[in-house]
Amino acid sequence: MPSTVPIFKGKNPILPGAEFISDPYKFSLGPGRSFGDFFQIPFFFRKIFFTTNLEVIKHVLQTHQKKYVKSIAYRNLKLALGNGLITSEGETWRRNRKLAQPAFYKTQLEGLYQAMTGVAERYCQDLTERIKTNVTLEITEEMMSVTADIVLKALFSSENPAAISEMYRIMVDSQEYIMMRTIAPYLTPFSYINGKHRRFRKDMDWFDGHLYNLINERRKESGPANDLLSMLLHARYEDTGEPMSDQQLRDEAITLFAAGHETSSNGLSWTLYLLTQHPEIMQKLRMEVDRVLGDRTPSFEDLRKLTYTMQVIQESMRLYPPAFAVGREPLEDDEILGVKIPKGSAVFISISGLHRDPKYWERPDEFYPTHFDTENERNRPRMAYMPFGAGPRMCIGNHFALMEMQLLLAMLVRQFDLELVTNRPVVAQPLITLKPKHGIKMRIHPRKIPAYMGIE
Ligand code: HEM
Repeated sequence: MPSTVPIFKGKNPILPGAEFISDPYKFSLGPGRSFGDFFQIPFFFRKIFFTTNLEVIKHVLQTHQKKYVKSIAYRNLKLALGNGLITSEGETWRRNRKLAQPAFYKTQLEGLYQAMTGVAERYCQDLTERIKTNVTLEITEEMMSVTADIVLKALFSSENPAAISEMYRIMVDSQEYIMMRTIAPYLTPFSYINGKHRRFRKDMDWFDGHLYNLINERRKESGPANDLLSMLLHARYEDTGEPMSDQQLRDEAITLFAAGHETSSNGLSWTLYLLTQHPEIMQKLRMEVDRVLGDRTPSFEDLRKLTYTMQVIQESMRLYPPAFAVGREPLEDDEILGVKIPKGSAVFISISGLHRDPKYWERPDEFYPTHFDTENERNRPRMAYMPFGAGPRMCIGNHFALMEMQLLLAMLVRQFDLELVTNRPVVAQPLITLKPKHGIKMRIHPRKIPAYMGIE
């Protein structure tokens, strides 16, 4: 006899589960959290299984992951990303992941780190200049632009700035278009009439043409692989010894760009926001940064010593995980903990809910970086914290992202004083990633030298 799970209907009799559909992030911290860790939400003729249960998560993402594919929300992404690592499945995904993985090994990341520090230094210099005339800035836009510069530099080191800024514009506009098609599919037919689809296609054609030219030029070069594009271009499939096709390279490059900046940017924005609200944590963080770095730019070796900086970042991504959920669908009927998961249903793994489960966190709703000290880390199940997902499809860029966030956070808090300026509360909005709904405005000043450094 199969078991059953509770069914969450919520308060709206016409649209059961409306609370979940309208804001899955808020739901995960409110009604979802109190309802349980594995339950069903009816959604018209579909069943959605909401979960923060570690056994269920392990089953779907790890032990039985071959029985599952990514959820429908990813399919629209194919319009822009093609068949890259995020959107592909099965054998295609496996071969490409194997080929791409070495580009993200520590030794390769050390090379990319040099490019990152160059961008971070230039950004801080530029910020110092800009705040001479305008101290109030939108921090989410700032972080978006610096993380986009970093990933573009890591991908296409020698690209010219004008082309990079056009590529960036296209990515922003096309993401907006795809979001519209995902959230409001009924508007899609209008986009063929009002020119939005044509503009999207034209932009993508320009992007592709440009990328293919770049790939052709790179193929002719024989120098060492010093950016992600070259690394992918020189890599060979294990089974055939062949390189990636141009089309596949295009799909992977655009995927890495899309996946590689918005998440880090949101992670950093939330971290800076939390620090403005917790001066005591900011002080402790700065003491570490000052002690380890003095006035140097962090070297690759320094990152290992910036342990509290890392704890602050991890804790911020616990409270505000940039990827707040992952979704999967079973290819065939499956069973988890005795519960039937029929084909056509969806499993919604709530990372935000899991990250605040009192079973695993001493202070679930507080900003408390000590959650990540060695002792607490040791005493917690590994999967209780998964901002980068879990199992074979775990984020390929996790070390890249952490390295970038540590570098930028250390440089920003060392050089600037940040103060939140707002007349409304900062609330999280779950779009593709978890963003601050109305942005985060901050007043930024050159940092006053702290008394503990012995200088007045
Ligand atoms: C704080 C920053 C980041 C967060 C929170 C994040 C989160 C995630 C998560 C949760 C997944 C798994 C999605 C799923 O299983 O459905 C994922 C996949 C992925 N991420 Fe990230 N990511 C970040 C940064 C990056 C960066 C910097 C890159 C590349 C430079 C990147 C590239 C990818 C790719 C290619 C995948 C698909 C992997 C696969 O399926 O093989 N991410 N990311």
